[in-house]
Amino acid sequence: MIIAPSLLAANFGKLAAETTRVNQAKADWLHLDIMDGHFVPNISFGPAVVKVLRPLTRIPFDVHLMCSRPEILLHPFAESGANHLIVHVELGDRVTPLIWKIKALGLKVGLAVNPPTAISNAKPYLGQIDQLLIMTVNPGFGGQPFISEMLPKIQQARAWRIENRLNYHIQVDGGINFTAAVECARAGADTFVSGSALFGKRQFERAVQKMRQLVKPFAHDQKLHG
Ligand code: DX5
Ligand code: ZN
Repeated sequence: MIIAPSLLAANFGKLAAETTRVNQAKADWLHLDIMDGHFVPNISFGPAVVKVLRPLTRIPFDVHLMCSRPEILLHPFAESGANHLIVHVELGDRVTPLIWKIKALGLKVGLAVNPPTAISNAKPYLGQIDQLLIMTVNPGFGGQPFISEMLPKIQQARAWRIENRLNYHIQVDGGINFTAAVECARAGADTFVSGSALFGKRQFERAVQKMRQLVKPFAHDQKLHG
C-alpha cells in the first residue's frame, strides 16, 4: 500500500521544508500536481520547482500532468527528477505516443481518468501502464469532497487486473481522507494520493502512518500479478 502526499496542499511559501517533512514522515511517494491553466482552471508549479526539491529526498516523484500539451513537458520533468509521469486518458489518440515517450525516457507511466470519463476508455492501455489513476474529484483544486460514485471504477480496475494478470497500481486522487481511503482500499485501490487530509494535520508523520495502518488490512486483496 502506497501513501503519496500531494504537495498541492503544502505551504507554498516553504516548499523545501514541506518536502523534507514528507521525507521524514517516510511517505512512499511525493505526488506533484502540475496544472497549466488550460486543461484545468488553475496553475500550480513547473519543472524548475521540482528540480530544486529533488535533492531533498530520495522518495519517488509522482508527477501528475493536468496539462493540455504534456508532449512539451515530458522531457523537462524527466530532467528535473520525475520518476513517474501521469497523463490523462482524455487526450484521446495522443495517449499511445505519450506512453511511448514516457517509457523512452525510462520513467514509469501513469494514466489518469477524470470523474466524468468512463473507465472503459482506459482499457486499451492497461497492458502498457504502471499506474491507473482514478480521479475521485474533478481535477484543479485541492480540498474538494471525495466523489463516492467513483468506487465502481476502482472495482472494475481491480477486476481487469486479475482477469488479465496485470500489475498496474490502482491509484486514487482527490478528497482522500481516512474514511475515503478505507472505502477505496476495500474497492481495490493500493495507492493513495492525499493532500489536505495529511497536510492539514499538525502531526504529519502520524497522519501518514495512520492512513497506512487503516488501508493495510485490505492489502491482501490487492495482490499484484505478473
Ligand atoms: C486535484 C489533484 C489532487 C489534489 C488532492 O486536482 O490532482 O492531487 O491535490 O488534494 P486533496 O487530497 O486535498 O483533494
Ligand atoms: Zn494529482
